[in-house]
This record gives sequence, structure tokens and C-alpha cells, in this order.
Amino acid sequence: MNTGPAATNNPMASSAPTSANSAVATTATAIVNIASLVTNDPSLGDSSALGLIQDAAVVIDGDRVVWVGESSKAPATDNRVDAGGRAVIPGFVDSHSHLVFAGDRTAEFNARMSGQPYKAGGIRTTVAATRAATDAELSANVARYLREALRQGTTTFETKSGYGLTVEDEARALRIAAEHTDEVTYLGAHIVSPDYADDPAAYVDLVTGEMLDACAPYARWVDVFCEKGAFDGDQARAILTAGKAKGLHPRVHANQLTYGPGVQLAVELDAASADHCTHLTDADVDALASGDTVATLLPGAEFSTRAPWPDARRLLDAGVTVALSTDCNPGSSFTSSVPFCIALAVRDMGMTPDEAVWSATAGGAAALRRQDVGRLTPGARADLTFLDAPSHVHLAYRPGVPLVTEVWRAGTRVV
Ligand code: NIG
Ligand code: FE
Repeated sequence: MNTGPAATNNPMASSAPTSANSAVATTATAIVNIASLVTNDPSLGDSSALGLIQDAAVVIDGDRVVWVGESSKAPATDNRVDAGGRAVIPGFVDSHSHLVFAGDRTAEFNARMSGQPYKAGGIRTTVAATRAATDAELSANVARYLREALRQGTTTFETKSGYGLTVEDEARALRIAAEHTDEVTYLGAHIVSPDYADDPAAYVDLVTGEMLDACAPYARWVDVFCEKGAFDGDQARAILTAGKAKGLHPRVHANQLTYGPGVQLAVELDAASADHCTHLTDADVDALASGDTVATLLPGAEFSTRAPWPDARRLLDAGVTVALSTDCNPGSSFTSSVPFCIALAVRDMGMTPDEAVWSATAGGAAALRRQDVGRLTPGARADLTFLDAPSHVHLAYRPGVPLVTEVWRAGTRVV
């Protein structure tokens, strides 16, 4: 879908969670007096893509949603929580971040804001700092940024390796990432390791061989930065194909800095997501519209590199499923804030507030091929983000304001 509910290529279309409410145990918890509830189930509420219910309630049992509907019809339960007229949306699904790193790149950011262009090679600075860090330092960093994201309403996070670029450093990054989240991506192919500057082919052999063997046990996904200054189409194909043979599913950094083969390769290999999609030909858009690959837009990167915005409107109008994520990393997008990305997408990328909220929740879930998150329907994980506002529209209408006042993850209040 785009937020366009009727599109046929939406991997969320045949979803496991259902809109049917079932019998509710009295030991469950009812959250009542919700001014407006985003369910992302078009069969509910106002029948829009967001399945918006006014004056709503959500009933939770354990870690799952068991009932949603109008507050006045909520089943009797022993525990009741009054939402106090706030809006509730599904926790954000941030399907793209790079959190296993050390150091920062303030100097590079300053230089960019004085007119220098962003180049993939800046990644080397973070590689040096990350290699020099201890496991404990890296793990503490991941925990810190995940906590930061959680406070801003994100309840599902993907994160990647890519700042180690040796067998040991990539495997350790993934092992640390896996201690914090289930959505872990092997990105040994972030750039050619500086140790292989004279022999990129040998680095591709390492990434598809010994490094992959060491990393695959910790990861669900394989990714490649398919870009000038990183890996070309043939190298990217070899890396993604080798990852697939090891049971990892592809996702691709594609068409960020310039036009290139990444997007069409992603669709050809049935990647879950083509990420960035800043420079697209009509053939790229057609390819995305014809397959199940989600276009994940990362406006924090364009903001922070002063690059042209990706054209979300063009993708949505073509029927492409669009996700919105942070790309949180120390180089090109040092933000963990999905609300900030929503505001940018609405202001500068042609999205409506409804579309942007859908893309940051259900869209992110689609980009991770997940059906249990990014929606609030019976059977879904009880991930709720409360806004100190009457509706989700305020996320774009009140940019920069900390509207997230409470977060529940898997049925537990965590913020
Ligand atoms: O998604 N594009 C490649 N990777 C990151 C940038 C990483 C960095 O600059 O450190 C991105 O923008
Ligand atoms: Fe990235």
C-alpha cells in the first residue's frame, strides 16, 4: 500500500493478526478514554488505511492486544487504565539504523554545514573508533540509543554491523546487536575495508566467505551499500546472493547518493527493502511497484547531508509500499527520532500526515516482513505509543515537540 490501502503489493495485506475481537479474560487490562486510536487495520473505525477509531479502547492480555474498539463498548476487565484523552498509535517500527559504533563525526558534520559534500568514505572514521572500542562500550552505546528511541515512541528496531569490517569486528558488532534486538543485519559490505583498499575483489571474497560464516549466526538480514565509492551492482549481487545462500534475507542501501543499480537489484532479489531511494528513474519506480520490496525513506540522511529529498509522493502515487525510518548513524543521520522524520516527510517529501504515520509503523513492519508489530489489532504485540495530543496528525503539525508521553512494549509500560 502506500498509505493507499488498496495496493496489491503490500506484504501486510494478508496479515496474521485479525480485526476480530475475541473473548476477553477479566484479568486483562483495558486502556480506555483514547481520543483517537491508529490501528492500521482498514476494516476498523473510519475504514481509512489507518483504521482510525475515535473515543477508543485497547484491551491487552499478556504481551498481546486482544480487543480494540469504542471505549463505551470495552469489555469488563479487572484492570483499567485511563488514557486521559490522548491519542494512541502503534509503536514506531524503525527498520533502519546503524547503532553499533563508537565516537562521533561532529567535525565532518561541521564541515558539511560549511559546504563540504557528504561522501561514503567518512565511514572510515567511525570504523577506526569502533575497532578501538571495547565490547562494553559498544553495548552501552547501543543501549543508550535504543533507550533514546524508545522514549520517542519506537518499539521495534533494526540495527546493523558495518563499522568493523574485519571478521572479528563484524561478528562482534552483530553479537552485541543481537543482545539488544531480534532485527539484526550483516553489513560487512558497508565500504571496502581500508585494509583492502588496493584489492576490493579480495574484500568481496572475505565478505562472502569467512566473514559471512562468522556473522550469519547472529543476523537475520544481509545488506550492502550499493553506491559509487562503496560497492557496484555486480559486487552487490555477489554479496546478497552469498548471504541468501546462508539463510539471510536481503535488504539494500540503494540509490542514496546518485542513480544506480541498487533498487532494481533489490527487487530482482526480492529484498525486503530498498533503503534511501533518493535518486530514482522511472524504471526504478516501476520495479518497486511491481515487486514486494518496500521503499524505505530516510529523511534524516537528506537533512543531515543537505541532499535533495526523496520523492515520497511519486512512490506512493505509483503504488509502492513506503516505510519511514531514521537511519540513525554518526555520519549521515545522527537522529533516533521517528517523529522528526515524520515531520520532514510531511513538510518536504509530499506525504500526508496519515501516510507518514502509516509508513513509520505499518510501513516499517512491512520492511521487516513482520505482521505482529506496526498495528494495533487483536493478536498483534501490545506496543503502544501515547501522544500528548488529540490525534496522530500533531506529530507533523507540532514538529520538534516531545509529544510522546508514554510507551508500552509487549504489554508492559516502559516509558
Ligand atoms: O545509511 N549509506 C551508508 N550508510 C549510512 C551512512 C553511514 C555513515 O556515514 O557512517 C547511511 O547513510
Ligand atoms: Fe544506512
